[in-house]
Amino acid sequence: MEHLTPWTIDSWRSRPVAQSPLWPDEAHLERVEAELATKPPLVFAGEARRLRGQLADAAAGNAFLLQAGDCAESFAEGSADFIRDKLKVILQMAVALTYAGGVPVVKIGRIAGQFAKPRSDNFEERDGVRLDAFRGHIVNGEAFTEQERRPNPDRLLMAYHQSVATLNLLRAFTTGGFASLTRVHAWNQEFVSNSPEGKRYELLADDIERAMTFMRSCGIDMADDHALQAVDFYTSHEALILPYEQALTRQDSLTGDFYDCSAHFLWIGDRTRQLDGGHVEFLRGVANPLGLKVGPSTTVEGLRTLVSTLNPDNTPGRLTLIARMGHDKVSDLLGPLVEALQADGASVLWTSDPMHGNTFKAAGGIKTRRFDDILSEVTQFFAVHQSLGTWPGGLHVELTGSDVTECLGGGHDLTESDLTTNYTSICDPRLNASQGLDMAFRVAELLQRAGSGARSL
Ligand code: PEP
Ligand code: CO
Repeated sequence: MEHLTPWTIDSWRSRPVAQSPLWPDEAHLERVEAELATKPPLVFAGEARRLRGQLADAAAGNAFLLQAGDCAESFAEGSADFIRDKLKVILQMAVALTYAGGVPVVKIGRIAGQFAKPRSDNFEERDGVRLDAFRGHIVNGEAFTEQERRPNPDRLLMAYHQSVATLNLLRAFTTGGFASLTRVHAWNQEFVSNSPEGKRYELLADDIERAMTFMRSCGIDMADDHALQAVDFYTSHEALILPYEQALTRQDSLTGDFYDCSAHFLWIGDRTRQLDGGHVEFLRGVANPLGLKVGPSTTVEGLRTLVSTLNPDNTPGRLTLIARMGHDKVSDLLGPLVEALQADGASVLWTSDPMHGNTFKAAGGIKTRRFDDILSEVTQFFAVHQSLGTWPGGLHVELTGSDVTECLGGGHDLTESDLTTNYTSICDPRLNASQGLDMAFRVAELLQRAGSGARSL
């Protein structure tokens, strides 16, 4: 088969590359690629291997993956406050899932590199004017002007630098005390604490605090305990712009394997998972843990071939399948896929992305999603796994730490007329911090019900 030809760092270049921007100046792109190739890696191979081990635990039913962050990070939202608030809600969700759901949670952000977007059309037309579609800040700007929409390779460097700064702050936050379990109360932002789920979180935080005080009184020294004082937090993005991904790929001196050092975890989108395409070709050769979006057009045979191409040695933790079917399709479409891989003995981690199959346009053409549809897809995802005796291993959501009004429903019960109040996403509608926390509590309840039976797989 064609995909079994030897892999090289640029073997993807001889394949069709879907969703590639129409770069107007190839020489400019090549200069930027050469410059990026001289830059330090963002992450280390050893970190990616550690994550793979934790994902293997999740695949075995002994942990749960929370992957969350922006649909598309913005060059305009790189400040410390934005990053801190996103981290706060992810930490809150993780605590809710761990405490109420009773499982260890592996935490991966859609952050520090999630800048590229696939689009259904190469062009966008408004009032008879046709320009390049907006493809995320790593490619072009969202404003509808000729200059902003022209793909600009310098943006690859800007994306790299913003990722470096973001990751630096994340590393400081997650190891420097901010993520300590002694600070659970501090992660509840004011606008969240007034919502029902914010109040529920306060009670949970009180419980944790009491337990910590008790342990301290028993003479247990928690100041030195890494598990209580710091968290493992990993980065991820869709590996869409392959010249960028190749330029940040390094050969690990320890193992000789190639790692894409732009993030710990890379995923292949629903529009770029063609078996003979450039994205599958590139990613099959890097040793990072990978994600693969599994949308409604996925066939059993197609998935089988992709799984054996991306994980030929059936390494646990290597491959996470991110189902994004839509609440009206998931219960019909997911079962046969899960069952086929189960029959093959394929070691994969199944997670649910309940966002991308549930987008619609509200009045005025505003893109949105209903909290209830999102919850319905996750609930059905759990039900399918329950019926097959497989582990519903994770949740993949788009959210932000601020008080945006982009998705309908949830704690503050946002309605269509609220959408314009604070809609700041440059791409898909995200859960705000209280909707994210609400989702985590609901999923924790599903996890409790899934219980330890499924975990003794
Ligand atoms: C995304 O995760 O932002 C995305 C575009 O998803 P999908 O490829 O599943 O449509
Ligand atoms: Co999205």
